Amino acid sequence: MGQDESRMVDDDTPPKTLDSRSLESLAKYIKDGRAKRIVVMTGAGISTSAGIPDFRSPDTGLYANLQRLNLPYAEAVFDIDYFRKNPDPFYALAQELYPGSYRPTITHSFIKLLHDKGLLLKLFTQNIDCLEREAGVPDDKIIEAHGSFAKQSCIECKYPYPKDQMQQAIKDKSVPRCLNSECNGLVKPEIVFFGEQLPESFFRNRFLPEDSDLCIVMGTSLSVQPFASLPQACGESTPRLLINSEQVGSLGSRADDVLLLEDCDAGVRKLAEACGWLEELENTWSETAPGQPRIEKKKVEEPKKTRDEKLAEEVDKLTEEVEKSLKLHQEQHEWLANHVDNKFARIQENEETTPSVNALHTGSGSTSKSSSGGLQHVFPWIEKKPTL
Ligand code: OAD
Repeated sequence: MGQDESRMVDDDTPPKTLDSRSLESLAKYIKDGRAKRIVVMTGAGISTSAGIPDFRSPDTGLYANLQRLNLPYAEAVFDIDYFRKNPDPFYALAQELYPGSYRPTITHSFIKLLHDKGLLLKLFTQNIDCLEREAGVPDDKIIEAHGSFAKQSCIECKYPYPKDQMQQAIKDKSVPRCLNSECNGLVKPEIVFFGEQLPESFFRNRFLPEDSDLCIVMGTSLSVQPFASLPQACGESTPRLLINSEQVGSLGSRADDVLLLEDCDAGVRKLAEACGWLEELENTWSETAPGQPRIEKKKVEEPKKTRDEKLAEEVDKLTEEVEKSLKLHQEQHEWLANHVDNKFARIQENEETTPSVNALHTGSGSTSKSSSGGLQHVFPWIEKKPTL
């Protein structure tokens, strides 16, 4: 890295990429089109305003509120070795951990907006609440580094366990056992416990930050490895933005790090405003409100034009260009005439071979699961609250 990643960089160290270490410079970098491959890294802090506690906040975090489980240490509830010996505390808590009908926060919608703008390279999340999907970020853009409740299996032989039976076990606070009678191992949801491997998708994509041109870290204490090392994989001169209530990890140690030490929702609103996207962001978020039909972004349909109209438009455009260039001499005029002819030929060729733009757009929204069924594709047993 060529730098001690544990030390904050001096304020007067000049950045290598940004004009200055400020939100405004970062917004300019984005607006200038220099951030086209953004990686986002998130943790529980982006969901606290939805009503889901994080893990390590001193009074409100989950780990500060587990006394009733009589654990040797709070994180034992997610420790695979402890679970093997004593699975009861996890199942006593599992009901509370299950995602409910929470609304994504505006921070989740900000990630969706980056995707809509074609700027999101990948989202790495430690969260198991699935609110990123619920906000409309497509599955193929999300790496759930700490797994999810979507599947469950035996911790010994990996034999899958039916969802409806898991639901019942969680409801009853009972510990399910492997359905393979020769095994009889303990079963748990496929959320990653301490001592377990992260999903293969994490390892396959963990070097993506090297290719990014902006990294945004939000709502995480960066205290769990290997996730915590992801921001260090970014290039030395790649700007990194931290939006979090406290300074974490190595963020702040590089000359192009920008720190917004505040509430995530307030931070993304500021960034969106500086980029001129605030209204769009609020609109994107409003689509997640209860009762709103999930609307995939639709391109505004233009009235259909006839071939002649299109040709006439092209001619007008080119004529305008010609008129602007009064000093064109004869040779250039000839080139222009040829160019117009070629353009006409290309338009005609395209008309014959390309499906209509409207037809292509019609299919584009169907890849996002959240557009149709909310979280029910992940938690089919969870009935969505009636819309308000
Ligand atoms: P943590 O609880 O460790 O960290 C949350 C971070 O978000 C803290 O730095 C908070 O100060 C900050 N924060 C909370 N609410 C915020 C808000 N509204 N705005 C801004 N900042 C806010 O949660 P994670 O980093 O996600 O793993 O925890 C990482 C992993 O530890 C979890 O995935 C889980 C846990 O043990 C496993 O269970 C394997």
